[in-house]
Amino acid sequence: MSESNRKVILTGDRPTGRLHVGHYVGSLRRRVELQDSGGYDEIFIMIADAQALTDNAEHPEKVRQNILEVALDYLSVGLDPAKCHILVQSQVPALFELTCYYMNLVKVSRLKRNPTVKSEMQMRNFEESIPVGFFTYPVSQAADITAFDATTVPVGEDQIPMLEQTREIVESFNKTYGETLVMPDILLPSTAACLRLPGIDGKAKMSKSLGNCIYLSEEPEEIAKKVKMMFTDPGHLKVSDPGKLEGNTVFTYLDAFCTDEHFSLFCPDYHNLDEMKEHYQRGGLGDVKVKNLLRDVLLYTLEPIRNKRQELQKDIPAIYEILKEGTRRANEVANATLGRVKDSMRINYFTDEAFLKDQSARYS
Ligand code: TRP
Repeated sequence: MSESNRKVILTGDRPTGRLHVGHYVGSLRRRVELQDSGGYDEIFIMIADAQALTDNAEHPEKVRQNILEVALDYLSVGLDPAKCHILVQSQVPALFELTCYYMNLVKVSRLKRNPTVKSEMQMRNFEESIPVGFFTYPVSQAADITAFDATTVPVGEDQIPMLEQTREIVESFNKTYGETLVMPDILLPSTAACLRLPGIDGKAKMSKSLGNCIYLSEEPEEIAKKVKMMFTDPGHLKVSDPGKLEGNTVFTYLDAFCTDEHFSLFCPDYHNLDEMKEHYQRGGLGDVKVKNLLRDVLLYTLEPIRNKRQELQKDIPAIYEILKEGTRRANEVANATLGRVKDSMRINYFTDEAFLKDQSARYS
């Protein structure tokens, strides 16, 4: 049992590409706030490369190419290595040992019910063709979270099933072997728009494979172009027509990004988003004006991030050192947890003096 009331954050991302604005409103922005709140004793941000390999086994190169990319995204949004550890999952061996022991506490039937695993199985048609590593990644994610005694896991809505699985493993482990692991809580974004930011096509959530992303490091011209292409209300043909907000991607994005301050800066005709929405629904407000606001807000929000990234890119060895140091500390903590786990399971034969004693007695 970790004796203390320490508050610890663990969260992370798969390094399969640059991070996008969905990551930003869904998780990154919050992480920076939490980091700066001073309310946490320690913060770990994981570049989950081993998890990325569970469905990219043929493409380790793709994962390799995105380690620094994601680290740069983290640092450019304001994660600060003085306040949080950024670590590389595959370089923390204790995580894989923990995974192994946790696997004994989880049933195949339970993993098949995991919505993420289930939909992947359906997508690939053949149940049996999914890699074992992918099938069990919810267990490995439980190792990620518990290894650091995380109390708080700030993630997007899509990670709810992973947290449920983790909590079950913690409960089961503690019940079987005695209080050892810390029970984590999920921390979700507070607004619906941030919970699930759609792609610019309005269809699904933002995803690289659908080509509907706006990246954090996107160039201004690209941002403007993508906002122009954005899905709105298809029934809103003339400016004078009343417009709908439901499923209107531009407004979803404004919900996620826009503050009252943005109105005084870029669109003083309104005081806030509610006023603008009301006008849109009443009729008489054209999509172009709404899109121009969103464009300005995105450019304004992303410019400092892009600039910081450009600065950081000038010194890649420094980024590399940040990852090395974060991973060093991660190993320290994860090894201590693994030690506790083995103690609880009483498989710590070479550090447990009782082992030699009671085994000797048994044979004497
Ligand atoms: N599954 C997360 C994703 O797909 C990445 C991840 C791996 C993670 N381990 C984690 C998130 C632990 C939170 C906690 O983005």
